[in-house]
Amino acid sequence: MWPWALFALAPLPLFAQGTAAVTNPVVSNPSNIERGHQFFANNCGICHGFNAQGGDKGPNLNNGQFRHGSGDADLFNTITRGIPGTVMPASALPAEQVWAMITFLRSKVVAARAQIGGNAQAGEKTFWSSDKCAHCHMVNGRGGLLGPDLSRIGAMRTVEYLTGKIRNPNRELTTGLHEPNGDYVVPIANATVTVVTNSGQRITGVPRNEDTFSVQMLGTDNEIHLFLKKEVKDVLHEQKSLMPAYSQQMLSDSELKDLLAYLATLH
Ligand code: HEC
Ligand code: HEC
Repeated sequence: MWPWALFALAPLPLFAQGTAAVTNPVVSNPSNIERGHQFFANNCGICHGFNAQGGDKGPNLNNGQFRHGSGDADLFNTITRGIPGTVMPASALPAEQVWAMITFLRSKVVAARAQIGGNAQAGEKTFWSSDKCAHCHMVNGRGGLLGPDLSRIGAMRTVEYLTGKIRNPNRELTTGLHEPNGDYVVPIANATVTVVTNSGQRITGVPRNEDTFSVQMLGTDNEIHLFLKKEVKDVLHEQKSLMPAYSQQMLSDSELKDLLAYLATLH
């Protein structure tokens, strides 16, 4: 049972300032969550990140804590009225779509609060073993640079998301990155870029800064590379992750469970 369903039982005056509907009419099931995710990615992802993980212009909305109120009615108001004095705009989307987005945001219950089982110590060992996660990810100032810092990942992501990310890293990357006509809309900070030099050499990495004339990337060699576009043959963007997809052979289900238990401690 979702705790916010209890709002239905709350005395009405609590929401005297709120909107007419105070409980979310869009029930939490996978298809509604996916629909809400799509609306969110299309309308809000550019600021908040396509998975609501936080972006250059908007905060992370995944940690279940909302400064402007966490009730259903509060979220509805924040989204439909915007936040005056900030770049957070008022959304004119139909109420039903706004509720679907709230259902999506609610689905991002943080990993730290979920029941995982698993052995966090064993998971920590796996994480730090030489060919694994720490090769590309930092935790509390140690580890690799290629992937995002995971120091607070347990407070930011659901177990479901983390499992998907580890087994199939490309799954969540592709959402909302392209307009329906195929145009490349938003360079996602963490997607992959490959530069083909005039001599045919290919250097792959994560784009850090890019404009019309130049591209700066963190290469898979963990070095920063800067290229002037007129001096290279091609700059290829791919919406795929540089993170390996961990199959059962590379990481068994029980190793994965231990790893998730460790990640949940990071917050
Ligand atoms: C132009 C960038 C931008 C867009 C587009 C945008 N937001 Fe925001 N949003 C922000 C910023 C910045 C804040 C933080 C404002 C503040 O409190 O300082 C914010 C805050 C929020 C909050 C409140 C967070 C809290 O802690 O209370 C919610 C919820 C939210 N946005 C949802 C959405 C949704 C849903 C959409 C799409 C319909 C959206 N935003 C579109 C920039 C944006
Ligand atoms: C070869 C480098 C590499 C290795 C090894 C690697 N990752 Fe990643 N990881 C990345 C990159 C790059 C991204 C960002 C692109 C993306 O979203 O997939 C990423 C993204 C992630 C994310 C998403 C972070 C977020 O904020 O949403 C998680 C979680 C993650 N990795 C966990 C792991 C775990 C756990 C392991 C070990 C089992 C691992 N990674 C191994 C490169 C790597």
